[in-house]
Formats: sequence, structure tokens, C-alpha cells
Amino acid sequence: MRVLFKNIGQLVQIRSEKERYVSGAAMHELPCIEDAFLLVEEGRILDFGPMEDYVPCEADQCIDASGRVLLPAWCDSHTHIVYAGDRVDEFVDKIHGLSYEEIAARGGGILHSAKRLARIPEDQLYEESRKRVEEVIALGTGALEIKSGYGLTLDAELKMLRVIGRLRERYSIPVVATFLAAHAIPEAFANNRKGYVDQVINTWIPAVVEQGIAQYIDVFCEEGYFTAGDTARILEAGVKAGLKPKIHVNQFHAIGGVQVGVQHGALSVDHLEVMRPEDVTALKGSDTMPVALPGCSFFLGIPYTPAKDLIAEGLPLALASDYNPGSTPSGNMNFVVAAACVKMKMTPEAAINAATLNGAYAMGLHAEVGSITRGKWAHLLLTKPITSYRDIPYHFSTPLIEEVFVRGEGVGPKL
Ligand code: NIG
Ligand code: FE
Repeated sequence: MRVLFKNIGQLVQIRSEKERYVSGAAMHELPCIEDAFLLVEEGRILDFGPMEDYVPCEADQCIDASGRVLLPAWCDSHTHIVYAGDRVDEFVDKIHGLSYEEIAARGGGILHSAKRLARIPEDQLYEESRKRVEEVIALGTGALEIKSGYGLTLDAELKMLRVIGRLRERYSIPVVATFLAAHAIPEAFANNRKGYVDQVINTWIPAVVEQGIAQYIDVFCEEGYFTAGDTARILEAGVKAGLKPKIHVNQFHAIGGVQVGVQHGALSVDHLEVMRPEDVTALKGSDTMPVALPGCSFFLGIPYTPAKDLIAEGLPLALASDYNPGSTPSGNMNFVVAAACVKMKMTPEAAINAATLNGAYAMGLHAEVGSITRGKWAHLLLTKPITSYRDIPYHFSTPLIEEVFVRGEGVGPKL
């Protein structure tokens, strides 16, 4: 099956196979071709270039993309999209002045979601989660990381990971699974954090690895959750067992999680709303991708990751949604890109780099998705007629997507 896009107003994010991610000043460059063609064969990008170089060839489908922007679909490297129920009551509590931490201290927050998750049958969890996956694909997401972490018992964590596996089977976008048992301390271990960490290390990690149902290991390294010492122990065990770290750090407090992540070869360190100079230093020269989650900052009213400073220091940055019922009940990457521009003062070029190629890197998928590169999957986002990619964050809530393509096949005009 061959699909040809022709007369593309602007073909965005052209990269060679060698480019794993972009950092520093290069974040502000977004290579494009104006008036371009793109040819897809069997779901992968076969060729592209300026229209004047197009040599007519047979295609099963031809799409005229005049006046439109075609870009790689968003790569969302941090989500908790598999969950049960919602936390809309806490949303209202927050409006009345309670903080995320105060809600958690009252037994709300992650522990509340864990109670709901324990009760829900696996098939229903799959059905609820499937709807959210379809929602984000329609919003232009073409690769997804999903975490466990609302289980907090081995059985419930495995239930979540199996559901993630079923979602991977069901959809043609890449879906990677992260084991986040250390997301909160369950009630049964309220006075025995070490006991919980020991159990995760000694029993749960081996069980998850034996079943081959997770690729990454995560820890919520934060005051009131897991210390830098706990994080180091869990990552060490995870790495030994073959899981690569991707961790939650510096959301409310900087307690050394960035350093622990870098030391254990973390693929990404995520959140980073609170950054000290030594945290920036730790990231320099590493292959660890910093990941900002502006939807979370927006929803909780907490500081935004200092993106401009990190980029000025020569670091790369990825953007992800953090889609979850508590801190970010939205997986809309169009909004994430807009919020990054508006609130974090990222240039549109930096924000789009962060939400495509760098996002792909942050989940180990940069060889498959995240840029217009020969051989990569043709997971693409086609806009309605607009002048340039800068219109996407500028019209921050206008539905600008005309069609989303997965493996070169339209999944239908949405929004
Ligand atoms: O990334 N911070 C920890 N985990 C999630 C929130 C989870 C929840 O509140 O349910 C986050 O924001
Ligand atoms: Fe998260």
C-alpha cells in the first residue's frame, strides 16, 4: 500500500536517521520543506522532498495537502492513562484551596485511585483506558508511554501492566510500559516504607521481569513518597533485572532524584518544576532526557519547569502530557505544546522538537517515530489550512487537526 501526500504547504521536522534528539540552541531550529511531497509505503516513510523533485509514481491513495502543515504525530513519553474512575471531587477541593499534598495526606490522591483500581475488573479497566487512548490518538498522539502505579499490590500492578499490553496489541502506535510500583506508600505499609521498598525489589521486580510486561522502571522521588535512597535501591534492582529507569523527580521538592537518575542511566527524568543549579549540572553531559509536564503545572497551579534556562544551559528537553486522574486529567499534546510556548516561553520550534523527536527519545522510540525520516513509521498529523506550524500553539485551543495518520492510514477527521 502506497500513500502519496503532495503539495504539502509545510512538511515539518525533517531529520536524518542519525539524530537521536536535539539540545541547546538546536532546539530552536525546526527543519521544514515548503511545498513538499511525502511518500509512504507499507506504513513507513519511503521518500519526501520538495515538489519540484517529485517523480510521478504509482500510489494507492493521493492526498492533496495544499496550504496544510504535515508533521510527525506527537510522542507522549509520560502518561498514567490506565486508571479507574476519576478524581473530580479533589478538583473541587483544590478550587476551595486544598493543595495536592493536603489532599494526599487525607487519603485522597494516588491512594484513592489505588482503591478504585483494586475494585475494577480487568476488562472494564481496559475499556475505560481504551477510550482515552483513542481520544489522544484523535488529538494527534502517535506514540505513548503508560505507567502502572495505581495498583500498589503485585496483583493490581500486574493487572495494569496487562492492560497496557492489550492496548499495545490493539493499536498500531507504539505503546511502552513502565513499572511504577513506588508511586505512593500503600496504607498497609504506612509506617514501614522500607518494608514496601524491600518487597518491590525482592518480589515484584522479579515477577514483572519474568512476565516480560514492562520495559521501564519508575519511582516517585518526592518528600512524603520515596527518598533518593529508596529511588537508588529500586533503580539498581530494576537495572540489574533489565528495566531502564524513567523517573518522577523534583515536582515539589528537589531531594537528589536527578542525580540518582543520571547515576543509574535513566532514559528520562520527568517533572523538574523545582530545579537547583546542581540538578542542571548533573544532567549536563548525560544521555538522560529532562521532561517537562506543563499540563500538570497548569492544573495544579505549581511552577513550570524552567525550560528556557535548561535549554540555555545546552540541555535537551522533552514535553509530555502526564495524563492522569489527579494532577493532569488531559492528554492533549496540542495544549501541552501551547502551554510550553505561553507559560514556559519555549519557542514554537523548541516546543515541537520537545513533543516529537525528544519525546520519542524519552521512551526509546527515536529510531521508529518522532521525525520525518526515511524508514520511520508514518504516524502523522495533518492540519487544516494554516500558514505555518507556529499557528498550532498560537491558536491554543482551536481544533486545527484535519486528520491523523497511523502507519499512513487516516484514522478519521476528529475534534
Ligand atoms: O506525575 N507525581 C506523581 N504522579 C503523577 C500524579 C498521580 C496522581 O495524582 O494520580 C504525576 O503528576
Ligand atoms: Fe506522572
